[in-house]
Amino acid sequence: MSLVRRTESDGGRLGQSLLTGAVNRSALFADAGLSRDGNGRLHLEGVDLTRLAGHVGTPAWLYATGAMRQRYAELASAFAGVSHRIHYAVKANGNLGVLRVFRDLGAGADIVSGGELARCLAAGFAPDRIVFSGVGKTGAELEAGAAAGLGSINVESLEELDRLGTIAERLGREVPVGIRWNPDVTAETHPYISTGQRGIKFGVPADQVGDAVRILSRHPRLRLVTLAVHVGSQILTVRPHQAAAERLVALHQEVSSAGLGTVRALDVGGGFGIRYGDEQPPAPADYAAVLLPILQPTGLEVHLEPGRFLVGSAGILLTRVLYRKQAGGKTFVVVDAGMTELVRPSRYDAYHDIVEVAPSRPGPETPVDVVGPVCETGDFLALDRPLPPVEPGDLLAVLGVGAYGAVMASTYNARLRPPELLVDDAGWGMSRRRETVEDLMRGETPEPFAPPSATDDS
Ligand code: LLP
Repeated sequence: MSLVRRTESDGGRLGQSLLTGAVNRSALFADAGLSRDGNGRLHLEGVDLTRLAGHVGTPAWLYATGAMRQRYAELASAFAGVSHRIHYAVKANGNLGVLRVFRDLGAGADIVSGGELARCLAAGFAPDRIVFSGVGKTGAELEAGAAAGLGSINVESLEELDRLGTIAERLGREVPVGIRWNPDVTAETHPYISTGQRGIKFGVPADQVGDAVRILSRHPRLRLVTLAVHVGSQILTVRPHQAAAERLVALHQEVSSAGLGTVRALDVGGGFGIRYGDEQPPAPADYAAVLLPILQPTGLEVHLEPGRFLVGSAGILLTRVLYRKQAGGKTFVVVDAGMTELVRPSRYDAYHDIVEVAPSRPGPETPVDVVGPVCETGDFLALDRPLPPVEPGDLLAVLGVGAYGAVMASTYNARLRPPELLVDDAGWGMSRRRETVEDLMRGETPEPFAPPSATDDS
């Protein structure tokens, strides 16, 4: 089993997934839907990855639909004792094929932009099962959400609440609104994705209930239906969720005693952590055991907004080794994917397990840096990672990339974004084809000062 040294002297806060112990690879394989056949070849659900790479090339994103469905079923059954809705957080993976899987399972969607709204409508989500969150929605986005008849528009400031009220007046329609509160709960995770403490940009401060109620009373077309919190992402204990839920119930009491009796749902957000290496995340039943006794007595519907939990483990990135290079006493394995595809290692020091797709070559594991082709020293998928011997042409699978992988990709260095495929026991299907250079240059011209041509649609 691989051991990875900590590369940060931060006590583990900064590197949200730096390992302290042995990688639990059998659990990672089970979470992902990965297995090896009798010849040691890697399969994702029913699909032989060596053959698949031959068909579609590399790099490529693969999403295991069975693994996604299983996660959804686990969460839904843990909360089955209470009337609840699972709004899939589209930001984790907005691929239309992935969205369709969750829509078909009965999920709603949690979105944060007009673009995500368009994606959800294209995937067939009913508007009233979509919740629109986000700290900086534009007037146009608020209007699009209100006009589409979304289940709830969750505002994050009094200013936004007031603006939405004006839009509701102008449209002449009732708009269901939620308020995302800042519960002042600190979640131990990477500081960039801890979102529930005081003094950060998220949520309405909990001492502004009175002001919120006053604004709502000025805007009769706004109907307050949801109170929401979201305290962060990749949280590995139930404690912050518990503290936030308690805060939410207290806020509901405050809102009710101010005379507002329209709230239907308490939204406890997402953030449920997953295993990337050696973590032992709580199970859905652990969350339910702690949250339901707090939420159930209110009689309100419970809303959840998980992203990573539903898709994170279900995705892998297939990449091929281009070169093996020795420099400065180190070994570099240069692969055809890098920070442009998966930015999490360089952005958050995140650990993503990497395994060979064919059976390992004989020989001891040695520490290598797995790096991409991008022109930055910060372009890496793994540093000092013990890997068995690999040679140019070998295929590698990067694990745990279903969430915040493809959605955070860029085309830096004019790199083409890889295809996204869904796989299941019956085979595979392409949900998004590989980008072409025409895709890259669409809408761009080398002659911006030329008079627009008659056929130009701009
Ligand atoms: N609801 C709200 C309001 C959110 O801001 C988020 C995530 C979620 C739900 C879903 O959280 P999840 O269940 O996926 O943890 N790019 C980072 C993660 C950013 C999360 C942002 N908000 C990463 O790669 O780790």
